[in-house]
Amino acid sequence: MNIVRTIADVRTALEPHRRAGRTIGFVPTMGYFHAGHASLMRRARETSDVVVVSLFVNPTQFNDPSDLTAYPRDEERDAALASTEGVDILFAPAATDVYPPGFATTVVVTRVTEQMEGATRGVSHFVGVATVVAKLFNMVQPTTAFFGQKDAQQALVVRRMTRDLDIPVRIEVCPTVREPDGLAMSSRNVRLSAAARDQALALSAALSSAERAVAAGVRDARVLLDSARAVMRGRGVEPEYLEIVSADTLAAVDRIAGEALMAVAAHVGGVRLIDNVMLRAG
Ligand code: PAF
Repeated sequence: MNIVRTIADVRTALEPHRRAGRTIGFVPTMGYFHAGHASLMRRARETSDVVVVSLFVNPTQFNDPSDLTAYPRDEERDAALASTEGVDILFAPAATDVYPPGFATTVVVTRVTEQMEGATRGVSHFVGVATVVAKLFNMVQPTTAFFGQKDAQQALVVRRMTRDLDIPVRIEVCPTVREPDGLAMSSRNVRLSAAARDQALALSAALSSAERAVAAGVRDARVLLDSARAVMRGRGVEPEYLEIVSADTLAAVDRIAGEALMAVAAHVGGVRLIDNVMLRAG
C-alpha cells in the first residue's frame, strides 16, 4: 500500500490507472478505523480495480472544538488495517494542503441539511462535509465512492451534491455495521466508559423496538416515537433528536407507508452518538 500526503502525489499515483481505464473506488474517512470502515474498504476492493482511502480529520465539520480535539487518531493502526483490507493508496493530506491560506470557497447544500444533524450541530456542519467531500472527489476523481448508512443524512447530502453539481461519481451506501449487542460501530465508541457503553445501547434498542412495532402493524409515527423515547429513558438516555422522516427528503412522516427513516442522536457519557434504521411497512 502506498501512503501519499499531498494532492499532487495522489494525482500522480492515480494517473497511470486512469490512463489504463481502471475503475477507482474511494472511501473518504476521518480515520480511527473500525469494522464499519473495513466493510466499506472491502466493498470497494470487491468492485473496483484501484482502492483509495482518504484519512483526514476535517476541522470545518466540527461545530464543537472539544469534539475535534477529542476525536481519536492513530494513523499507524489505520494504515495497518487499510493494508490488510487490500487498499492500494492511503491518502492522508495535511490541513494546510486541503485548506491553504486564503481558502474562501464552500459548498452549501440546502433542504436536506436543515433537519436532524444540521439542526443540532448547526448548518456549518454540512457545509464542512459537502465542501471537503467535493474537494476530495476533485482530488481523487473516483468512479465510485462508498459511504456508510449510519451517517444516513450525510449520504443523502453527498448524493444531492453530486447530482446538483454534476460530479461524475457513483455513490454507494453500505449497511451499518453493528457490535454483536447492536451498538452501531463508530470511531467515537472508544471514548465510552464501561457504564456509558452499556447506556449507549439505548439508541439501537429504541430503533429495534420501533422496527418490531412496525412489523406488528403499528403505523402511527407519534406512537412509534413515544415508545422509542420511553425505551431510551428507561436506560437513562435523553435523545438530542429522534425522528421518523422520508428517506428521500427528510420531511417528517406521520404514518409509515412503504419506507421511512428513523434516526436518533444522543449524548451518552459525554460522547455524541447517532444511529438510524429503515422502517418498512408491508
Ligand atoms: O463520515 C466521515 O468520516 C466524514 O464526514 C467524511 C465523509 C470523511 C468527510 O470528512
